[in-house]
Amino acid sequence: MKDKKDLLLTFAEASERFDLAKEELLYWEKKGLLKSTKTEKGIRLVSEEQIKSLISQKKGKAKAFQVLKSKEKPRYSVVELFAGAGGLALGLENAGLKTAMLVEIDKWAAKTLQENRPKWNIKACDVAEVNFKGIKADIVTGGFPCQAFSYAGKRLGFEDTRGTLFFEFARAIKEIKPRIVLGENVRGLERHDNGRTLATMLNVLDELGYNVAYKVLRAQYYDVPQKRERLVIIGVRKDLQRPIAFPKEKSYTVTLRSALAKVPKSEGQNYTEQKKKVMELVPEGGYWRDLPLAVQKKFMGASFYLGGGKTGMARRLSWDEPSLTLTCNPAQKQTERCHPSETRPLTVREYARIQSFPDDWNFTGSTAAQYKQIGNAVPVNLAYHIGKTLIAILDNQYDESLMVLPQTLV
Ligand SMILES: C[S@@+](CC[C@H](N)C(=O)[O-])C[C@H]1O[C@@H](n2cnc3c(N)ncnc32)[C@H](O)[C@@H]1O
Repeated sequence: MKDKKDLLLTFAEASERFDLAKEELLYWEKKGLLKSTKTEKGIRLVSEEQIKSLISQKKGKAKAFQVLKSKEKPRYSVVELFAGAGGLALGLENAGLKTAMLVEIDKWAAKTLQENRPKWNIKACDVAEVNFKGIKADIVTGGFPCQAFSYAGKRLGFEDTRGTLFFEFARAIKEIKPRIVLGENVRGLERHDNGRTLATMLNVLDELGYNVAYKVLRAQYYDVPQKRERLVIIGVRKDLQRPIAFPKEKSYTVTLRSALAKVPKSEGQNYTEQKKKVMELVPEGGYWRDLPLAVQKKFMGASFYLGGGKTGMARRLSWDEPSLTLTCNPAQKQTERCHPSETRPLTVREYARIQSFPDDWNFTGSTAAQYKQIGNAVPVNLAYHIGKTLIAILDNQYDESLMVLPQTLV
């Protein structure tokens, strides 16, 4: 999986080389399709490879969507807490890791795991009830729900976090002592309680004997047809003396058009007649500001006068970009996710494709429960790239697909 050597160009150079208007390049950058980096002198540079891929996408040769799967024989095992419907678990399995145990309290999410992988060892209970002593695993992972800690003016250690779900994650690590720990969360964790929540978590993992680092990974650059960000913490047991690595971003994105090609029919929510009449007026890629003024005022109510972008309201997705972040419901007022050309919310299978679940991964429970399980998941292909990275760390073999952190940071 080696990356080709990529050339960085200024906007002027790129515009000349590819005979493209600078405005088009700037538009791609604004839409998050083209990344730019700044030099020390503040000059913005863009990737030649990425522009080539956007040009071929424009010519209809978009990157095909696929659920990534390695042929590697599993050599390392994973214990996962807060497993949900298995986005992370499946991606790690696809990367070549073996699932040793999963813990999930929600009845329907646990049932989804059981139905898709009858052989997995699934504990369908509160994580606080699980004894991890004596369990062996190379990796412990979990997307612990974000909760505030209570401080009494002091720096918190492991024992002080007792009573939170992060404590349960840390307890599993203390009892299992895996070689690697992987935490995943929403991007907001970085600023939660002015950064103190994350600082405490990193401190506790350090206290438990791990070198730790975190990064916000943008799923759209990891074979996921969705602009979704996850904060990923990786810890490597100090005695291993290995550098921490994260997967490098790819130079292409996958569009919604590719993701939804031949998507199987499935159940989904419907709009009320009234909402349908409004959404019918929104063009592809548009939102409430594209409605006639009178309709805007009626639809937005008081928020019409409050200012702010509210770009998620009455939003219809675009075919030629990755989808916007999915939430637990496709028809929430603040985060509307209307199909790009039909006037209806995305269906369950469309939701699943956008999270890069394969079509044969079935979800259990009501339609609302299924949307929730999918919306809560780590995109499977993002998890695949993270899994590959963890295998590389365990093998002590780092290649060009990885962003290896300098030892000094470790
Ligand atoms: C963000 S979701 C995890 C999604 C999962 N990583 C995936 O990729 O599909 C968090 C999960 O934690 C579960 N959870 C919350 N409290 C729990 C507890 N006390 N014990 C076990 N699971 C819990 C929730 O039911 C939810 O499914």
